[in-house]
Amino acid sequence: MPGPMSTATIMFSGVRKSYGGKLAVDGLSFRVEPGECFGLLGPNGAGKSTTTRMVLGMALPDAGTITVLGQPVPARARLARRHIGVVPQFDNLEPGFSVRENLELFGRYFGMSAREIEAVIPSLLEFAHLEGKAHARVTELSGGMKRRLTIARALINDPQLLVMDEPATGLDPHSRHLVWDRLRSLLARGKTILLTTHFMEEAERLCDRLCVIDEGHSIAEGAPDALIEAQIGSHVIEIHGGNPHELRALLMPCAQRTEVSGEALLCYSADPQQVYARLRERTGLRIVKRPANLEDVFLRLTGRERGLNDA
Ligand SMILES: Nc1ncnc2c1ncn2[C@@H]1O[C@H](COP(=O)(O)OP(=O)(O)OP(=O)(O)O)[C@@H](O)[C@H]1O
Ligand SMILES: [Mg+2]
Repeated sequence: MPGPMSTATIMFSGVRKSYGGKLAVDGLSFRVEPGECFGLLGPNGAGKSTTTRMVLGMALPDAGTITVLGQPVPARARLARRHIGVVPQFDNLEPGFSVRENLELFGRYFGMSAREIEAVIPSLLEFAHLEGKAHARVTELSGGMKRRLTIARALINDPQLLVMDEPATGLDPHSRHLVWDRLRSLLARGKTILLTTHFMEEAERLCDRLCVIDEGHSIAEGAPDALIEAQIGSHVIEIHGGNPHELRALLMPCAQRTEVSGEALLCYSADPQQVYARLRERTGLRIVKRPANLEDVFLRLTGRERGLNDA
């Protein structure tokens, strides 16, 4: 009898990968359950793309075990990939081919017949909002159009699992919301998604659970709401218009934590009244109390000031 351990769509256990002696992924473990949207968040260079590439068997781990859709990876990655839709971080469309030809090419790669491909192309063109561009060459598309085509292409084989590396990067807000809507409807149909993103809004809207990684290992994992509550609390006070470093010194005694964000000071306090009291004498400040969000969690966990050094 297979135990519950074998039912996960993706199992990643103690995985390590280094490039030229430098660890890119450092003992990372996570599970993605069927029907779940699981997010990987982390600063540039954290190891997100390397992780997604290892899930696909396109980068080989130095240690650890990976199982995807019941198949050991990389040993049987080819079998798993038949049921996976892939959106790589950087588009790899055939530039000399038309939009339609790119979809046909991918369909053939998955062993689909011409008739099957014909049947799905209209809905994919609609998904990508490229109905009027079916015969345009990829080189004639804008960056966002290429991205939408790459996402639509990933759906051609009606995959059980989608592995998407920053799918919404380069999309305008309309397209982004459209893609999020479509991804939600895929989730509603029982598909599983592994997603990396730098859009905290995307992670909050789509992900059931997420893992924040930094320097190749997990530093926090959980549902977005639970992470926000555990790491930040319910509210953040933003103070604009003063010297954030001076304000930080003033508020230190009544704040659990502060964060300088450009010209503003973010103040995390269980007792906002005390913060207001300390600022009462100050003029020219704009003070905004807002609900805590995932961006606060990200900034806290991955250290804004340290992160800037290696940006
Ligand atoms: N093919 C490669 N050869 C050598 N080093 C690599 C290779 N791919 C990734 N790395 C290194 O591995 C580390 C993790 O890179 P990775 O692309 O996984 O980061 P990421 O989290 O996807 O970052 P980003 O948010 O910028 O896309 C980095 O230090 C990077 O330089
Ligand atoms: Mg990446």
